Amino acid sequence: EKGGYEYFMLKEIAEQPQAIADTLLGRLSDRGEIILDEVRLTDQDLRDVDKVFIVACGTAYHAGMVAKYAIEHWVRIPCEVELASEFRYRDPILDRSTLVIAISQSGETMDTLMALRHAKEQKARVLAICNTNGSTIPRESDAVLYTHGGPEIAVASTKAFLTQLVACYLIGLHLAQVRGVMYSDEVAAVVEKLQATPDSLRTLLSRMDQVRELGRDLRTASTVLFIGRHVGFPVALEGALKLKELAYMHAEGFAAGELKHGSISLVEDGTPVVCVVPSPTGRGVMRDKVVSNIQEVRARGARTIVIAEEGDEDVRQFADHLITVPHTPTLLAPLMTTVPLQILACEIAAARGNDVDQPRNLAKSVTVE
Ligand code: M6R
Repeated sequence: EKGGYEYFMLKEIAEQPQAIADTLLGRLSDRGEIILDEVRLTDQDLRDVDKVFIVACGTAYHAGMVAKYAIEHWVRIPCEVELASEFRYRDPILDRSTLVIAISQSGETMDTLMALRHAKEQKARVLAICNTNGSTIPRESDAVLYTHGGPEIAVASTKAFLTQLVACYLIGLHLAQVRGVMYSDEVAAVVEKLQATPDSLRTLLSRMDQVRELGRDLRTASTVLFIGRHVGFPVALEGALKLKELAYMHAEGFAAGELKHGSISLVEDGTPVVCVVPSPTGRGVMRDKVVSNIQEVRARGARTIVIAEEGDEDVRQFADHLITVPHTPTLLAPLMTTVPLQILACEIAAARGNDVDQPRNLAKSVTVE
């Protein structure tokens, strides 16, 4: 049932290109327009939205963080992302024109469900992004967009994360389209890039031997830090979460620019720092800032593991280990940059003799608050 893979997690990582393709399937018209028929909100409802809140936990929360960048950039309305377990205690300001997006692989996470119920009580519209048909969260939502990732068995979320990203991109583009913020040819251009990601991901997956080797080498590290900027920041958080969850190692993700405000003190001689570098095309300024942050940690002895785009040759001189990923537009880059981090965590965990699919203290769906 593991299809020849040693762990479900590895099987699910390998299924990611197909999971993305399946999540895109049937959602795009011939003219590149986005059709979300499972979304029972009228175009008028979507035009009335003046604020978006995203609520989720764990990995799904990281997908929400990426979505915030995409939605604000494309739709030009404020979008907040919040841990579901914190949301209602803050007494958030919600009304009929608020769209709350609840992201959950299982559809049964109690924290997310309670956040959703709170939003509904305040008359907000609730849209679920979910991977499990007929589960509680979609049943209680006004609308649902299913990710077609197929069953995820390993406790660590992998393909669900990438398909959640795809669902968020589709919702962002759809909102931009119905609100007339993006022209259909602009939407079509992004969609074309999205449709190219499964092939790029297959290429990336075919050359992960170096990452596996690095994983075995890092098994004795006492801490691993992850840094990223913009959408690379949630990717850094996700890389750290995977490592904690699977390898039981101390790991922490930071916004690259925030490190110098305190946490850089953690860096010692040989501390592994995984750096997620933005594409040099797109917004080159951001890439250059991350490169300076890499130099800062390196000057303090860090062993740098750099995830950068193919062709970014200049970055090589700052990398003790360079892992390259195929080019994607900046906002879509997490579909690539996350994958080596998933493999790294899996490999380190396996090298430490841990149960990769069933890490200690964890359950696949968390049905208590
Ligand atoms: O089923 P959900 O997406 O609601 O689950 C949310 C989190 O519990 C989940 O993503 C968790 O963080 C993963 N095990 C991380 O790999």
